[in-house]
Amino acid sequence: MKPGIDVSVREVGLRDGIQNISAFMPTVDKLAWLTAEAAAGMAEIEVCSFVPPKVIPQFVDANEVTARALQIDGLTVAALIPNLKGAERGIAAGVHKLNFVMSVSASHNLANVRRTREDSLADFAGIARLINGLDASRRPLLAGGLSTALGCTIEGRISEDEVVRYAVALAEAGADEISVADTVGYADPTSVRRVFKAVGSAVSPLPLAAHFHDTRGLGLANALAALDSGVRRFDACLAGLGGCPFAPGATGNIVMEDLVFMLEGMGLRTGVDIDRLVAVRAILQRSLPGVALQGAIARAKLPKGFPARAAAA
Ligand code: COA
Ligand code: ZN
Repeated sequence: MKPGIDVSVREVGLRDGIQNISAFMPTVDKLAWLTAEAAAGMAEIEVCSFVPPKVIPQFVDANEVTARALQIDGLTVAALIPNLKGAERGIAAGVHKLNFVMSVSASHNLANVRRTREDSLADFAGIARLINGLDASRRPLLAGGLSTALGCTIEGRISEDEVVRYAVALAEAGADEISVADTVGYADPTSVRRVFKAVGSAVSPLPLAAHFHDTRGLGLANALAALDSGVRRFDACLAGLGGCPFAPGATGNIVMEDLVFMLEGMGLRTGVDIDRLVAVRAILQRSLPGVALQGAIARAKLPKGFPARAAAA
């Protein structure tokens, strides 16, 4: 965590937000988006996926976007990877952080990355070995991400024991962070508390991150439940774009502007300037015609006198 920050918020819109949008977002607009959001105080951005362009053509410009993002002072540049080949590409591009993804749901893992969960784990172990063999100056952080950890549109309920089992396996294989995702918005605050407490104590002292989708309107409630369970790292997406192309019925991430509003209102510093963040939406509006932008703060504006810093005491 950077000094002066209580909660780390991470923009995933340039990956999760646009992977489900078939129209190609021009590279110049992606660069404008990430530059403006970094200038608004966003310290970590997942800038792309290193997946085959034939699987998701939106990321055909992954190398160029990464190279430009790496020129922004102080920005942690992350990228999603589904396998060893993705890790090799991410390392060659020089990203600071690799966000490996596998699903707790066996069926979703097959649909999304075309392999069994055990094969994904073996791949992750290989990636960890590859990273450990690198010179320290070239070694990225490695996050272990668990999709569909709170429910799956193919399998329905997901066993908490399985979530803990795969989280521990990723931790033991060498993850620097464990990220737990409600990919399709099945969670509620009670299930979030249960799963995040169980995973948190199983992988302690590794930091735990949360990734919520607002598919059924409980995204911020779930974020609050995770916060209460000790989580201090949250993914979110400007204007609530997002969704997995291989999860039927998936919709957007929690809205970054609204998450920052909630946290700052509670007296928790994120380092992000909400007005400047809201202004970045103009880039999406122009570049993604026909894509609905979500968000309560953009619609209603900040309350008069916000933030009430006394609440922080
Ligand atoms: N980047 C670029 N090319 C890759 C790659 C990567 N990360 N991984 C594999 N490839 C290439 C291989 O080199 C091979 O190329 P070739 O045909 O020229 O020899 C080809 O793709 C097939 O490789 P294979 O290992 O058999 O992959 P696959 O067809 O089983 O697909 C994934 C596996 C993981 C690459 C694919 O399912 C995927 O990209 N899934 C991610 C989906 C996603 O992003 N979901 C949303 C985020 S959660
Ligand atoms: Zn997601």
